Amino acid sequence: MAITKQNLYLIFTLSFLFFFHLHCSTTSAQAPAPAPTPAPTPHGPPDVAKILGKARKYSIFIRLLKSTRVSYRLLGELNHTDNGKTVFAPTDKAFSSLKSGALHSLNDEQRVELVLYHVLPIDVPLSQFLFVSSPMKTEAGDSGDGEFPLNVTTAGKTVTLMTGVAKTNVAGTIYSDGQLAIYRVDQVLQPLQIFGSNSSVPAPAPEKSLKAADVSENSAALSIAMHNLVLSADGVITLALSL
Ligand SMILES: *[C@@H]1O[C@H](CO)[C@@H](O)[C@H](O)[C@H]1NC(C)=O
Ligand SMILES: *[C@@H]1O[C@H](CO)[C@@H](O)[C@H](O)[C@H]1NC(C)=O
Ligand SMILES: *[C@@H]1O[C@H](CO)[C@@H](O)[C@H](O)[C@H]1NC(C)=O
Repeated sequence: MAITKQNLYLIFTLSFLFFFHLHCSTTSAQAPAPAPTPAPTPHGPPDVAKILGKARKYSIFIRLLKSTRVSYRLLGELNHTDNGKTVFAPTDKAFSSLKSGALHSLNDEQRVELVLYHVLPIDVPLSQFLFVSSPMKTEAGDSGDGEFPLNVTTAGKTVTLMTGVAKTNVAGTIYSDGQLAIYRVDQVLQPLQIFGSNSSVPAPAPEKSLKAADVSENSAALSIAMHNLVLSADGVITLALSL
């Protein structure tokens, strides 16, 4: 078999892609967690919508917080410093991986419940999830079977949330000031009550495996994309050499 110029070029390109992939994987694994936003000035309560607005990529959740007036309600409740809250904020990407139409098919009451399901009535620092018992009580109400249970397990620094429909890890801390904690989640927490098998809402998209917490979303996505590229390129190499 003669190695043509074209094949050499191909192999060179593939090697380059491969090393680029290695480089990406390494840098994404080493990327430090984004530092939590510093505490606000002592004047006025922390505003969840504003904090998420600064963090970017939470525009759908912010819209829901505002349209359901939950953000306003939180602001009022956090104005009393003895009230704590924990908010799990799904990214825009998390919402886009819901089955299409899932959000639109919710009525107003379900929308409020969905948002409140992402809020705990206490401030839970990341290290304290270890001591929280399942099912956790969310602001959506009853944590009984088929209602709004939210289970939590911890393994080392990984905190996993289970709704009975969705399972996801706490993917990073967006904000924490001792009264309010906001964590990033890469999947919408879908309560059984709304998304369970008996509900009229379309079933959720199949669960995807999750990368380790704190790995930046973009570099992880790039790394996966490169991986796929190299994988498919291997097939081409095999083909090229067997000519
Ligand atoms: C917080 O409480 C103070 C005192 O009760 C009140 O003047 C202020 O308007 C409240 N702020 C918000 C955002 O609710
Ligand atoms: C679904 O419906 C069946 C039969 O009506 C019932 O036994 C089951 O508990 C329901 N499941 C949920 C999640 O509501
Ligand atoms: C949540 O935890 C409760 C109590 O430990 C358990 O009975 C239930 O099956 C769990 N549900 C899920 C979805 O993990």
